[in-house]
Amino acid sequence: MADQPHSAELFGEQRDFWWNRDFLDLMAVRWRLSEAASLADIGCGLGHWSRLLYPYLRPPARFAGVDREPRWVAEAPEKFRRAFPHVAPELISFHQGDAIKLPLADDSFDVVTCQTVLMHLAQPLDALREMLRILRPGGLLICVEPNNFWNYLAFTSLTESEPVEIWVRRFEFWLRQHRGRLAAGRGNHSLGDLLPGYFAQLGMRDIAVYQNDRPAPLFPPYANPDQKALVEQDRQWKSSATGPWNKEDMRELFMRGGGDESFFETVFADIVKKYHSEQQAIAAGHFHAAFGNINYLVSARKP
Ligand SMILES: C[S@@+](CC[C@H](N)C(=O)[O-])C[C@H]1O[C@@H](n2cnc3c(N)ncnc32)[C@H](O)[C@@H]1O
Repeated sequence: MADQPHSAELFGEQRDFWWNRDFLDLMAVRWRLSEAASLADIGCGLGHWSRLLYPYLRPPARFAGVDREPRWVAEAPEKFRRAFPHVAPELISFHQGDAIKLPLADDSFDVVTCQTVLMHLAQPLDALREMLRILRPGGLLICVEPNNFWNYLAFTSLTESEPVEIWVRRFEFWLRQHRGRLAAGRGNHSLGDLLPGYFAQLGMRDIAVYQNDRPAPLFPPYANPDQKALVEQDRQWKSSATGPWNKEDMRELFMRGGGDESFFETVFADIVKKYHSEQQAIAAGHFHAAFGNINYLVSARKP
């Protein structure tokens, strides 16, 4: 993955199934998006999130996407054009830039947003201050960020009755990597838990916290489009000896989080085995789990 731009592995078809449309309809009302006529998406990637939000704005609405990766800045405009062929091209712009030094003017947007971006940054508060800078007074900041630690704790048809010791070991395995990632300045994949407090610290008003209502369940025959996309995504790694994981990277994070080598080897072998067992159980049609995830939507107005 080293030669790939940031998040390339995350932009598969599965990302199109993150949200329930009726939930977004509700959020658009709660956020009063129809009163807004400009939107900036920071760390926009290919615009999966902003293409969902943009239609709720009051037309003709202005849009700006910012990403630090030249490839996404080059590819996202075509996705926007295809999604909104009747929108005047001069209303839509994409910019290469860093979240902590945005190439956009002060007080220039009604809504500023990001989805799963702050979690990757060493200095999320600096990025939030920049997002506030470009937001007009009274404008709305919307950040969607997860607690990804929860993803490791779901019970599945294969793991629900495993011994307590195995669960506890896996918990330590992921927690040490989480701590190692923080220590290495590579972000906080569970940053969502802390966001409301950061908003309060920055003096924002009308802070509101919601959760995405869409889990990612798998149950036979895995026939819904969202389940097919999930199964397909997982299948990519089926023949890899280490499943979807980069062992050396994980080892480095784990050790940095205070772990020891032999513990790492034991648990890494266990999670790879678990992954391959899941693949076999899916192929045999008897794997299932509701796979809830914690994805917060935290919003507030600039005073
Ligand atoms: C997980 S992706 C999310 C993309 C998009 N928000 C979405 O939800 O589909 C994270 C994005 O943040 C971008 N990114 C990472 N660090 C950044 C930074 N310091 N400044 C701007 N963009 C950044 C990456 O290039 C990537 O496109």
